[in-house]
Order: sequence, then structure tokens, then C-alpha cells
Amino acid sequence: MTDRNIPITDLRYPVRVPVVPDSARPVGGPLRDAHGRLLHDLRISVTDRCNFRCTYCMPKSVFDKSYRFLPHDSLLSFEEITRTAKVFAALGVEKLRLTGGEPLLRKDVEQLVAMLAAVRTPQGAPLDLTLTTNASILARKAQALRDAGLRRVTVSLDALDDKVFRAMNDVDFPVADVLAGIDAATRVGLAPLKINVVVKRGVNDEQVVPLARYFRGSGHIVRFIEFMDVGASNGWRMDDVLPSAEVVRRISEHFPLVAAHANYPGEVAQRWRYADGDGEIGVISSVTQPFCADCTRARLSTEGRIYTCLFATTGHDLRALLRGSYDDDQIAAAVAQIWSTREDRYSELRSDATTGLRRIEMSYIGG
Ligand code: GTP
Ligand code: 5AD
Ligand code: SF4
Ligand code: SF4
Repeated sequence: MTDRNIPITDLRYPVRVPVVPDSARPVGGPLRDAHGRLLHDLRISVTDRCNFRCTYCMPKSVFDKSYRFLPHDSLLSFEEITRTAKVFAALGVEKLRLTGGEPLLRKDVEQLVAMLAAVRTPQGAPLDLTLTTNASILARKAQALRDAGLRRVTVSLDALDDKVFRAMNDVDFPVADVLAGIDAATRVGLAPLKINVVVKRGVNDEQVVPLARYFRGSGHIVRFIEFMDVGASNGWRMDDVLPSAEVVRRISEHFPLVAAHANYPGEVAQRWRYADGDGEIGVISSVTQPFCADCTRARLSTEGRIYTCLFATTGHDLRALLRGSYDDDQIAAAVAQIWSTREDRYSELRSDATTGLRRIEMSYIGG
């Protein structure tokens, strides 16, 4: 056993160097965590920067001119990210999502997409490779991403009304450019898209029905997300959350909805179909109906730390191993060790006792 599991603290968040076991994990069925959950998704943050300042994610008061984003040399390279993805695929991961910050701001991100598109499961299948973007430069990038092997894309869009949208992104970005990005992605075959809407009561909740109406019949799937207490700077209050049940009720008044089954176990969104057959919506209710029991997601930060929960306070410094003298089997064994001892279920435990923790920001770890 390498005795390097000493908690150390960097300038921002606490981090641990993973333990590298002396021998590889014995073959014995799929990897499960302490609650029996499989490792199925890896969400990869490729930059902590964003050109938006959404009030629920990167409020200007915190992410201002003096905010220190990660320096370039601390970022994982595309080779390091791809090596990590291969290690995770060997451990059972079948889905990769690129996130940020805003992932399209990472220089030459389409090259990374091409490298990740070549990763295979042990059975030889490609992974489900996707990306979450604010679509501000998607119109310019859609074709290159598609050519590189991206299969689908998720766009964050919180309002159709230009005034409300500009206020929510807080950089006066026009909604028309995002809609143009969605059209471009559709044209090049990245469809059907998922459209993610974070709903804040009193800010954009009047946009729920217009958004549902706009995308009905388009084939795209709008998902309404409860405003979460992620990070430590967005001033979350329960009063600002519009429960998903209310979203479903409001849409149903205009367009009747019927509950639909999940596409796969552990799907984050609950699906609802329009009764007239004109498509579906989803609701993501991590506040009112936490889904930790089925959580199969690991997260890789821009600087190469593994987080086993969106609300984690400590990361595992995989970069130290990637830049050390370890081979892929040793790194896989270290990741298996991290996953098999994972106990996170923050959203289920959310309480006064947990709200004071110094949590990582969503723009650092990805959505
Ligand atoms: P699809 O297969 O495309 O449906 O992916 P997905 O269901 O993982 O959806 P996506 O990555 O778009 O996640 C949508 C939103 O759900 C995120 O932006 C978060 O707000 C929230 N979310 C996703 N994963 C988690 C999670 O593990 N915990 C919590 N609390 N929220 C999550
Ligand atoms: N609550 C819910 N979702 C959030 N996101 C960022 N901050 C929050 C929050 N406080 C998610 C949104 C966005 C993605 C990039 O991150 O889904 O689309
Ligand atoms: Fe940027 Fe997305 Fe966060 Fe908005 S939600 S600030 S677009 S990373
Ligand atoms: Fe998973 Fe943590 Fe989200 Fe629960 S709160 S679903 S454990 S990421």
C-alpha cells in the first residue's frame, strides 16, 4: 500500500492523493460503491471559465475581475483526459459528458471530442458521448463537433423572453443567438437535443409554459430543473425553488401530460409525455425528490480531481497519479478503491447540518 492518503489543502478546496493498492482489484463482478451503486457515467469538466454569469451558478459578485480561474498548466491535457476516460471505461463507464464552465470555450475542444469518440467499452462498443453547453458559440462549432464524433448535445436555456434571458445570464446575451445555436445543432444531426431550464421562482417561472410550447413537436426534450443549493455562492433559498410537481401542473393545464417510464435505471429526469403524442418533457427534482439511491455518476474536474458527488467537499487528485509513474492498471485500481468506498447521498441528507459546508462550485465541477 502506498501511504500517500494524507489530506492536503490547496488554495481552494481540500484534496486527497488517491491510494494506489499494491495489487489490482480482483476480478469479481461490476464495481459497486458502499451503497451498491454502479459506476456508469463520467462527467468531465474541461474548463472552469464561462462567458455567462448565470445568477444561480456564477454570480457576478463572486466571479468578478479578481476571481482566480485555474492557471493553464494545471488543466488536464487532452491526452490525460482521454487516458482517464479509458480507465473509467475499463471499470464500467458507458457515458461521457463534457461540461464546464462552458466547454466550448476550451481551445480545440473538438479534438478532444474526436479522441473520446474513439474510446471503447471492454465489449468494444463506443461510449455515449455528449456535451452540455450554453450554446453561445454553438452555431459556429456544431459542424466541427459533429464531424469529430459528438452524438448529441444538451443546451442550457432558461427563458425565451429576451429580457428575462439577458437578466439570467447577466451578461446581456441575446436569446436569438442561443436559438440559432440550437437550429445549427439540429441541422448537422446532433438532434434530438435536450434543453435544460433551471427554474427560479419569481425570476423565470413564467417562462415554463412558453418554453414547453416552443419546443413541443420539435423532437427536442425540455427538462425543467429545480434550483439547487450547489456551491457556496448562489444564495440558495428553498423559497426560490419551484417544485417539479408545480411545473408539471402548470404545463398540464395547457397541454395534458402523461407520466412515462424511465429510459434506463437511474435516469435523472422524470419523463412526461404529451397526451396528444407531440413529444415529451422531463423534470429534474433533486431538491423535492432526491435521486441519490440511483446515482452512478463520477465527476472529473478541470485540474484532474475526482469527485463522487456534486456536493462533495473533498476531491481525489487523479492528476498526481496521471503525472506520476503509475500504469493504467494501477490508476484503475486507485479509482476502484475510491468508488468502492463512496457513501455520498447529499441530496437525501440535505439539512441544516449540511448547508454550511464549504462546497465546490458547479462551474468548477460541471453540471
Ligand atoms: P441525459 O442522458 O442526457 O438525460 O443526461 P443527464 O440525465 O445526466 O442530464 P444532464 O447531464 O443534462 O443533467 C441535467 C441536470 O441535472 C444537471 O445540470 C444538474 O443540474 C442535474 N444533475 C445531474 N446529475 C446530477 C446529480 O448527480 N446530482 C444532482 N443533485 N443533480 C444532478
Ligand atoms: N441548480 C440547478 N442546476 C444548476 N446548474 C448550474 N447551477 C445550477 C443550480 N444552482 C446546471 C444547469 C445548467 C448546467 C450547466 O448546470 O443545468 O444547465
Ligand atoms: Fe455558465 Fe452554464 Fe454556469 Fe450559466 S450555468 S454560468 S452558462 S456554466
Ligand atoms: Fe449523486 Fe450526490 Fe447528486 Fe446525490 S447529491 S444524486 S449522490 S451527485
